[in-house]
Amino acid sequence: MMKLSHILVMLLWVGAPAIAQQLKAHTSFKPGQIWTDTDGKHINAHGGGVLYHKGRYYWFGEHKVGGRDGNKAMVGVSCYSSADLYNWKNEGIALPVAAENSGADIEKGAVIERPKVIYNKKTKQFVMWFHLELKGQGYNAARTAVAVSDKVTGPYTYLRSLRPHPGVWPQNATNSHKTEPIAVADKDPEWEQKVAAGAFLQRDFEGGQMSRDMTLFVDEDGTAYHIASSEENRTLHISKLTDDYLEFTDEYVRVFPGGRNEAPAIFKKNGNYYMITSGLTGWAPNAARSAVSDNMMAGWKELGNPVRGTEGQKSTTFESQSTFILPVQGKKDMFIFMADRWRPENPIDGRYIWLPLQFEDGKPVLGWQEEWTLNSGDKKRGKSPNSSE
Ligand code: GAL
Repeated sequence: MMKLSHILVMLLWVGAPAIAQQLKAHTSFKPGQIWTDTDGKHINAHGGGVLYHKGRYYWFGEHKVGGRDGNKAMVGVSCYSSADLYNWKNEGIALPVAAENSGADIEKGAVIERPKVIYNKKTKQFVMWFHLELKGQGYNAARTAVAVSDKVTGPYTYLRSLRPHPGVWPQNATNSHKTEPIAVADKDPEWEQKVAAGAFLQRDFEGGQMSRDMTLFVDEDGTAYHIASSEENRTLHISKLTDDYLEFTDEYVRVFPGGRNEAPAIFKKNGNYYMITSGLTGWAPNAARSAVSDNMMAGWKELGNPVRGTEGQKSTTFESQSTFILPVQGKKDMFIFMADRWRPENPIDGRYIWLPLQFEDGKPVLGWQEEWTLNSGDKKRGKSPNSSE
């Protein structure tokens, strides 16, 4: 009989090439495929965002687990780091959930979505904001929450959750918003119109506005903005954060009232702000939208669906939903569109769709790439992904 130790040695010997293969460095992006970290495990950072700090990229995202409860926060917010954007090292849990049944806002079983981290040059602190739903309340809480750390990878200290702007009207509120209450009932046939007209803006005036899908954007002058789906996901609110990025100022605007925009992602190019969002269909993908303005707080103009490709790709954004737009360091005007291909029945298996953002007639556009590198776009950048060269 062969000794157990011999069998083990043989297994290791046979398995070694497979492991080596798995841990081989990545040299390209393969959207939608399993994306392994430097330990060979599928990256677990969904609804994420990336911060570049001192020569490294840090990817923060939702840590998901398998099965039906997999979209709940059972562990916390993950952090990975990379020097080249292809190979990501697991830096562990940047913000752990609080103990189950502790009653804490971020207790195990709450919903923590779309975490984004920004760096404050004045306070030298890393500030994380995320969408928070309190445990056992479905998506009713509609809060945004903030945590802070002196170290980019954390651990982040949880500060508070809130509904933004209690008692404050947006800068573009009209007189009738302030003086003519709009009554809306659950089954009101004019529900959508009344909500677009500001029924929930008024309803939530005292207690604070709803805040669900969100992102952050730091401008060149250091001003940070919080952009979120509000008013029952019907209208975006863009808010200025305080200088330390830890609170909301009183400055905010409503954007695209009744537009049903979710999953906002923002970048800036040549003095213009661009936004890519999704429509409102939960975990199911839908057609992306894009918009531009030269002022974050006013003048947003719709630019239409940024996807170029087949009807199926256009109507589902390559079966994904936007989460962030990542400026590539050292490559002028190169941006990566980051999106999630959700797997609600087994969330940990969700996939990442990273595609190079291109420009066509001043509009951001996206085309499918089976596999690409940061250099493969060099020739094509600025042209339509479908233009033949
Ligand atoms: C999506 C949203 C996700 C998550 C999901 C829940 O529309 O973008 O972040 O909240 O709904 O159904």
